[in-house]
Order: sequence, then C-alpha cells, then structure tokens
Amino acid sequence: MKEFNDLLDNYTEGKTLPQEFYTNENIFSEEMNRIYFQKFNWLMVDHVTRIPNPGDYFLFNVEKESIIVIRGRDQEVRAFYNVCTHRGSRVCLEDEGSKKLLVCPYHAWSYDTEGNLKAARYMPDDFDPKQSGLRPCYIKIYEGLIFLNLTQDQPINFDDFIQPLKPMLDIHKTSKSKIALRKKYPTAANFKLVLENFSECYHCVPQHPELCSIHEKDWVYTMGGGVGTAPKKETDEYLKKIEPWVEDCKKRGLPTETYLETNEFREKGFSRYADRTPIGNGHLSQTRDGTPASTLMGTFKEFDGGLTQTAFNQFSICYFTNDFGIMFSFKPQSISETEVELIWLVDQNAKENIDYNVDDISYIWHTTTLADTRIIENNHKGLMSRSFEPGVLSKTETGITYFYNWYFNCMNISR
Ligand code: FES
Ligand SMILES: [Fe+2]
Repeated sequence: MKEFNDLLDNYTEGKTLPQEFYTNENIFSEEMNRIYFQKFNWLMVDHVTRIPNPGDYFLFNVEKESIIVIRGRDQEVRAFYNVCTHRGSRVCLEDEGSKKLLVCPYHAWSYDTEGNLKAARYMPDDFDPKQSGLRPCYIKIYEGLIFLNLTQDQPINFDDFIQPLKPMLDIHKTSKSKIALRKKYPTAANFKLVLENFSECYHCVPQHPELCSIHEKDWVYTMGGGVGTAPKKETDEYLKKIEPWVEDCKKRGLPTETYLETNEFREKGFSRYADRTPIGNGHLSQTRDGTPASTLMGTFKEFDGGLTQTAFNQFSICYFTNDFGIMFSFKPQSISETEVELIWLVDQNAKENIDYNVDDISYIWHTTTLADTRIIENNHKGLMSRSFEPGVLSKTETGITYFYNWYFNCMNISR
C-alpha cells in the first residue's frame, strides 16, 4: 500500500503520528479492512443478559456494518448481517427490540429469529427461500460475554484467542452476572485518538481527579496505561511494593501472572493484555470513596481491593473490581467519529437500590469517560490545524508507541 508507506516515511519514533493518518479517507478504509474486519479481531460487544428471551435482539453498528444479534426460539444467540438478501435494505432499524419475525421495511421479506427466510411474495417458481436466509456473522459466547468477528474470511480459532485471558477473566464469573447499566459516549474523533488516550495515563493527573483520588499515586504513574508503559525503575519499585498483596492473592488461589502479548501473536495482529493490581490507598473498589458499591461478584469470598484489567484487543476491554465489572467498546463509525460504550456488570443476584445503585458503580468511570470524550475531541480538533506538527511523547506515553507499532504491523500484515 504505497500511500501508507509514504506516510510512514514522515513518522518519527517517539513522536505522535503525522496529521494525514487521521484525515486520509483511504487510510481509514484500509484500517477497517486490515484491522477491524480482520480474522484476529474477536470483539467483545455485549452481555447475554441484554437479550434474555427468544426474539430479543440488538444491533451492533460499526462503520458501514450493522449486525443483528438475536436470541432464537431455541434459546441460541445468533448474529446476522443486517442486510436483506432481496435487494440489500437494512432489515432492523431500531437499535434493540423483540420480534417474532424480522420484516424488511422495503418489500416485506420476512425472516424468522433463526435467520431463515419465511415469506417473499411473487417470486419465480424456481426461487429457493432456503438459499436466501440472512447472512450469518461469526459469533461466540464466552462466560456470558458476546463476541463477534466481522471477517469475510475464516476467523481465528476462538478458544486459542481466549485461552491466555481465561485465568484473569474466569475469577469474575461473567456468566453469573447481569447488566446493571449501559452508557454511550459518541466521540467526535478518529478512533486512533480514542485508543491512544486509553494507552496512557499521562493525562490522568490533570484530567481525572476522581480516578486519581482512588488509586495510589504510583499506580497511576506506572500502571495507569498498563504494565511497561512507564519507566522501568519506577515500575519495578511499584511491583516490589505490591509483592505482599500479590503473595496473598496467590495464597487464595487467585491468578497473579500479567499477560502481555507475545511477539509471535503481536505479529499476527493480536493485542491482548491481562493484569491484576491493588487499587491501593486501602480502597476496596473503584467508587467515589473507595468502599464497595455492590455485593461480591465472581469467585471472591472477601474484598481484596484488586482491579483486573483484561484487553481482548484494542477495541474491547473489561475492568473488574471485586463487586462490579465494566465492559468498554470502542467502535469506529467514520474517520472522525467513534462510539465509546460502557456496560456495567454486577452479580446476577444483586438487587438494584438494595445491593447496589447505578450512581455508585458508575461514578468513577462515567466521570472519567466524560472527561476522556472531551479531551479526545479537543485533541482531534487541534490536530486538524494546518499548523499541526507531530509532538514529542513523554516517558509515560510509551504505550502510545507500543500502540503505533502494533498498528503499523497490522497495516502491513496482509500485504
Ligand atoms: S430489499 Fe428487503 S424485501 Fe426488498
Ligand atoms: Fe483518560
């Protein structure tokens, strides 16, 4: 891809990307094809409790694609491209609902909840409706989490993909949780600026006083952007300091091994991550005052004040405290629009306004994400200026360079 390579010549390691990476429509289109719709990109999109009954569905909309995720009469959750097999109209127009039949709003072809075409008027005698069901999209359910893969090819094996993340994920028993709250943050910015923002915590002290008052200062500095994104000396000091907490976790049979993507898999486009650290400051949860906001979730018998960070890829991430989880999705809509969605999970038996209330569980990450939306949009606006030149990254923004290297690698993968 010549255009991309020409642009790459203008990139200097240790600086931000040149402007055209954020403004060139051809680049955006290639990014979607080479990254987002690639076979390695299993996206965590929602939780099964969103669609508890047969016929319940929701749409997963990203770039030009719309996917219908629907529970069939047989209770199985399936995914279909929201494209009528007659002349291509979108079939479902509302973001969510419950239907016995999916009726196309154009010529009224009707599909059942399993995607089979059930009615099409005045068709030729040799027309076989069995050949015209909705086109399926790859889907996997893991521990109640719904994953989609939008490749037009064969996706990579899901079990292989999820394997290294299982130890950290499984202790939170997402299959025994339910959705407590969902919030969307439409962000007027290129998706890379959203992901860059999530790769560093340099901005945390000035922009996220709520998050920083909960976590220990050295956690924010060394771990806020993930292990290895701050200078080694301070990171090692922090890891040494939390050793007693880690040892205690081991004694209780909890996973303590950080998963950093291996080079072998990074070269294939993977970007998985998992770690578990104490929130610190004696705090037990990510709440306004650090006290729990719901009942224990998962395998925990007591609060240990840990925070688990699990990244399935750059576009879907989960955080868990002992009492709730947050699913983050970053969905590119166009070159300058990204939808950020947060879904809060609590234990399936927790009762709203008795065991938890949504303000308490969402306070930290709602305020933090609102601030992120604001700073990312300002970043996008400023970066559009004719005067913009790539700037020098700080010592705690190595996560951004890591992100760029992953990105360059993906863009070259199938050349
Ligand atoms: S496009 Fe759907 S029925 Fe014609
Ligand atoms: Fe932030």
